[in-house]
Amino acid sequence: MTLRAHRDPDWAADVARWGLGRMPLREQSMWALWVYRYGRRVDAAPPGFAQGLHRRLHLLLHTVVETLTGISLPKQTRIGPGLRIWHFGGIFVNPGTVIGAGCTLRQGVTLGNRVDGGPCPVLEDGVELGAYAQVLGGVRLGAGCKVGAMSVVLQDVPPGATAVGNPARILHRGEAARPRNDACPGAEPVGADAGQEQNKHPALQGQEPGSVTL
Ligand SMILES: CC(C)(COP(=O)(O)OP(=O)(O)OC[C@H]1O[C@@H](n2cnc3c(N)ncnc32)[C@H](O)[C@@H]1OP(=O)(O)O)[C@@H](O)C(=O)NCCC(=O)NCCS
Repeated sequence: MTLRAHRDPDWAADVARWGLGRMPLREQSMWALWVYRYGRRVDAAPPGFAQGLHRRLHLLLHTVVETLTGISLPKQTRIGPGLRIWHFGGIFVNPGTVIGAGCTLRQGVTLGNRVDGGPCPVLEDGVELGAYAQVLGGVRLGAGCKVGAMSVVLQDVPPGATAVGNPARILHRGEAARPRNDACPGAEPVGADAGQEQNKHPALQGQEPGSVTL
């Protein structure tokens, strides 16, 4: 495994989902993602002096970026390619969490356990979490499901379903979830949901999760 970001297919998929051009590091969430991917590459590198140095550098970068952005992505968490994080602040992911390919998080999202040392969520591919969604415990969120803003998920969510409320209930309806406009009024052009519809992880079409086995 090379330490170079431009040879990391998971990072390439993250950038593709960001989808706004050639300067992904102008967005705070991409700082956090870059540091996360770097940490994974460092851990996969051959053991030795260089790896030790990079581990220290990663720890420093992780602490700085976590403090600045309020996004905590521990390198122990398994995250598939093409993660999109809209906005920043209050985003905490437990190291035991598994996130599939092409998932979407927003500000305020927590993915963690219900009690110290307890099991953590598994998100299958293409799961989308609304702002401040809390997903707690060893629950499984099926592929392509959605969780509403401010919802607290304590049970499994079937693939393609929508869960809302506290505690979250599964919406049962005969039709597939209709497309929606996630525009966030007043937000900055970068980091806002502009371009989100064409940014539904096209890079992931037909792509299996790289570093994640669900
Ligand atoms: C969950 C969500 C995807 C559902 O969208 P939808 O499929 O269009 O659902 P609807 O608007 O038809 O609502 C269906 C039901 O869920 C309820 N509901 C929708 N979102 C909810 C939420 N976040 N919390 C609690 N209930 C919610 C509605 O009141 C409605 O209830 P009812 O059937 O009893 O009348 C959407 O409401 C949502 O929360 N998206 C997150 C957006 C976000 O985080 N934006 C931040 C941008 S910065």
